[in-house]
Amino acid sequence: MPRMPADPMRLGVLISGRGSNLQALMDAFAGDPVVRIACVLSDKADAPGLQRPRAVGIPVETFKRKDYPDRDAFEAAMDASLRRHDVTLVCLAGFMRILGARFIAGWPQAMINIHPSLLPSFKGLDTHARALEAGVRFHGCSVHFVTPELDDGPILAQAVVPVLDDDTADSLAARVLAEEHRLYPACVRALAQDGWRIQGRRVLGLAV
Ligand code: GRF
Repeated sequence: MPRMPADPMRLGVLISGRGSNLQALMDAFAGDPVVRIACVLSDKADAPGLQRPRAVGIPVETFKRKDYPDRDAFEAAMDASLRRHDVTLVCLAGFMRILGARFIAGWPQAMINIHPSLLPSFKGLDTHARALEAGVRFHGCSVHFVTPELDDGPILAQAVVPVLDDDTADSLAARVLAEEHRLYPACVRALAQDGWRIQGRRVLGLAV
């Protein structure tokens, strides 16, 4: 039975750039009783992806790393903002900074990321070029809980695409991105509505 919590899940979405996954979340949850986007945070004041939340009145806050003495202070400011907005799930959506263990520890099983590969293959950057280089026949994306180790937390769900003979990194990225836009909102909805548990490295009970 889906769980229908009294209060909607409140997302804090962190972006650095284009924001197409943010847009997918906004489209999926516009007017939704179960999930609301509480705020969007960015480390780039001029991130193109900030235009859309601003246009519909979602609170946007930007944090320049160089305005803070160190990473801890920078992350503490973002953490305080997320808590001011009563965020219950932090969604990294193309946030291009590695986050510190202290910040991550403040959001146990409450921070997720979308990564453009079938983890645990191709952690880090340039995943599509590396997938082509490795000659894999299938590629895709993963949504996972964030832990201090990069791109390593328990996997909520994955989507698979074929690698075609004439693929370039760009054509492969586009095929994967279309799946990202479907998978990320589906995972958020499942977290908000389903019971789930973690057993070892496995996330069980999520219907995605
Ligand atoms: C996506 O490919 C996502 O998987 C990765 O960064 C990219 C962000 O794209 N983490 P966008 O800003 O959501 O368009």
